Amino acid sequence: MSLYDLVVIGAGPGGYVAAIRAAQLGLKVACIEKEPALGGTCLRVGCIPSKALLESSEKYDEVKSHLSAHGISTSDVQFDLAKMMQRKDRIVKTLTGGVAYLFKKNGITRYEGTGSIVSPTQVKVSGVKEEILETKNILIASGSKVATLPGIEWDHDLIGGSTEALTYPSVPNHLIVIGAGVIGLELGSVWLRLGAKVTVLEYADRIMNGMDDDLSAEALKIFTKQGMQFKLGVKVTGAKVVQNADGSKHCEVSIDGQASVSADRVLVAVGRRPNTDGLNLEAVGITPDRRGIIPTNAHFQTSVPNIFAIGDVIAGPMLAHKAEEEGVACAEWIATGHCHVNYDAIPGVVYTHPEIASVGKTEAQLQKENIPYKKGNFGYKANGRAMALEAKEGFVKVLAHQETDRILGVHMIGVHAGDLIAEAGLAMEFSASAEDLGRTCHAHPTLSEILKEAALATDNRAINQ
Ligand code: NAI
Repeated sequence: MSLYDLVVIGAGPGGYVAAIRAAQLGLKVACIEKEPALGGTCLRVGCIPSKALLESSEKYDEVKSHLSAHGISTSDVQFDLAKMMQRKDRIVKTLTGGVAYLFKKNGITRYEGTGSIVSPTQVKVSGVKEEILETKNILIASGSKVATLPGIEWDHDLIGGSTEALTYPSVPNHLIVIGAGVIGLELGSVWLRLGAKVTVLEYADRIMNGMDDDLSAEALKIFTKQGMQFKLGVKVTGAKVVQNADGSKHCEVSIDGQASVSADRVLVAVGRRPNTDGLNLEAVGITPDRRGIIPTNAHFQTSVPNIFAIGDVIAGPMLAHKAEEEGVACAEWIATGHCHVNYDAIPGVVYTHPEIASVGKTEAQLQKENIPYKKGNFGYKANGRAMALEAKEGFVKVLAHQETDRILGVHMIGVHAGDLIAEAGLAMEFSASAEDLGRTCHAHPTLSEILKEAALATDNRAINQ
């Protein structure tokens, strides 16, 4: 029997990063993962495969429909869905294999099976064989699982979630997406570009609920122009697969308990829930709240001091990079007694075309918290590089404190916003003022000048508008 310093349950971005950081700090670490491939939802069936398909479908769409402005004509542009899927699978394989390599390199012992807690110092692995690991600390990094709605009859084929939508064998004629959140918009975009009619049904009266209002309004305009159809303010009350007279099948989705819409596939994207299945938390007296979230303190300790939890299974945004930060911080706390995560500077990115990215507070949050602020907006259309890219849609908005000028939030929609947001995050991490950002020399011509100009615009000093 081995004695570990730390046993991590789950090898997603939170768990695997925590395991590596703990090993770097000299701890003896084991990581339990029930899937054969390491990397969790993000690497296997989430962030990475979706980005691979977003890229392939965007390239197809661009060549098919968006090159004429450059004086390039194309005809008979085709795509091979099977090849796109193979490329996606190769990328996933390389990255998940990379995690296995990193485990070896860092001397982390990997157990394949389901981890459940027996006592504060014992974890059971139920896999090919069953064994009990003795440990000084336990880290729960078991992630999240897809949420559903009452009345949705999943068959995990025609009616499914993001995992199924990453492997459709052919382009649906009509795809109904339930939920205009991140998954709905990203995967809806993939299939729209490849030729499907896409109808998004959303309960709220806006898309991307929770993001800044201006981003949400602009995104709705842009996606509608791209051909995505939205029904906002509707409550989906059921979905089922119906057998047709000729033996084929279609899906019926009911809205507000009455009207129904039919489609050949349904993507349910109404959020995710913490995954605490099979952890046996009751054995140690850890009780998730009514949303399934495991309560933790600022050092990721649960109600049992040597049992920690991070990532989607605790409070906060369900984002891979948030889990990674927590993984590093938690490992450092265990090894050194010090750690910190700055939750005010965690970016969020939606990888649609154009991309949407945010860091810090939205205007609605600032108003709710009575924080005095000023704002600066600058559009892509006035930026030389954006013109050269034929990417004039979108804007950057900087929100800064009215008196101190400290940057409180940055919200952007436009090409490469997902990369541009990093500079805003760094500025916030260093408590920069809008003036700091506006006085930083940015290379010309680059898209990053839009951020600089938006920072200057908070003081009505933008040069090019
Ligand atoms: P989400 O929480 O982003 O959006 C779910 C949407 O479904 C909401 O707009 C909600 O109002 C709507 N909805 C709920 N009940 C409904 C009903 N009965 N009828 C119609 N609409 C209804 O959840 P999503 O898109 O499933 O994503 C899950 C998680 O995965 C999120 O936490 C997200 O942050 C994360 N994620 C992040 C990505 C990224 O960072 N790029 C990519 C994919 C997922």
